[in-house]
Amino acid sequence: MEIRIFENQKEIDLAAAKYFIDVLQNKQYPILGLATGSSPIGLYNNLISAYNKDKISFKNTTTFNLDEYVGLGIDDEQSYRNFMNKHLFNQIDINLENTNIPDGKLSPEESSKIYNEKLTNVSIDIQILGIGTNGHIAFNEPGTSFSSQTHIVDLKKETIDDNARFFNDKNDVPRQAITMGLANIMQAKQIILIASGEKKAKAISLMIQGAMTEDIPASILQKHPNVTILIDRKLAKKIISCEHE
Ligand code: GLP
Repeated sequence: MEIRIFENQKEIDLAAAKYFIDVLQNKQYPILGLATGSSPIGLYNNLISAYNKDKISFKNTTTFNLDEYVGLGIDDEQSYRNFMNKHLFNQIDINLENTNIPDGKLSPEESSKIYNEKLTNVSIDIQILGIGTNGHIAFNEPGTSFSSQTHIVDLKKETIDDNARFFNDKNDVPRQAITMGLANIMQAKQIILIASGEKKAKAISLMIQGAMTEDIPASILQKHPNVTILIDRKLAKKIISCEHE
């Protein structure tokens, strides 16, 4: 696990984009693992700008997103499909048919099964991850088995509270999601996790220097051979001060 510390979010976003641009320039048929939430937006903006400068093309690229809310589809403002179309896919030359996100409108059991079948036949070249304040990655909440495949999740209260900021009303946040499992995520050849701000300090600290335990789903990354964590100085300082408390 390599940890890189940057001054601010802008520097993190540039560094994250470099890893992705490298894959996009060197692979004939790149397969990207993508995430939602606020953390990857700067990365996506940098990829759009590299595309606009003709440095990269997404014509031969396939993408797999981590997760989707149960019940939300393309017409729902807060669906992850809508998020991805808006923040990335509609601004680049990717074929939308090559962009994969669990279907929140199907029965969740069926949707999970279909998505997992798709994932078993591919090998993601590079996966971007954010992290939840409780240490979740994708929507793998504390307690999820390290050997989990794509599955349906009952979201924890802290995740619903954290994500309520994207919805008009907290009661609108879906209570369930479909998510890639931890075993699916670990299949990616390379993983980049980005986090900034003091709020994420506890989760990052437990992920990198705590025990590898299903109580902190992100701690599974300790055993992945190619993970890079990009964090800002504020967060790094908070980790150090926590250690001295
Ligand atoms: C959601 C997503 C995660 C994401 C997390 C953190 O729960 N399912 O993939 O990492 O939010 O989001 P943010 O980057 O907005 O802090």
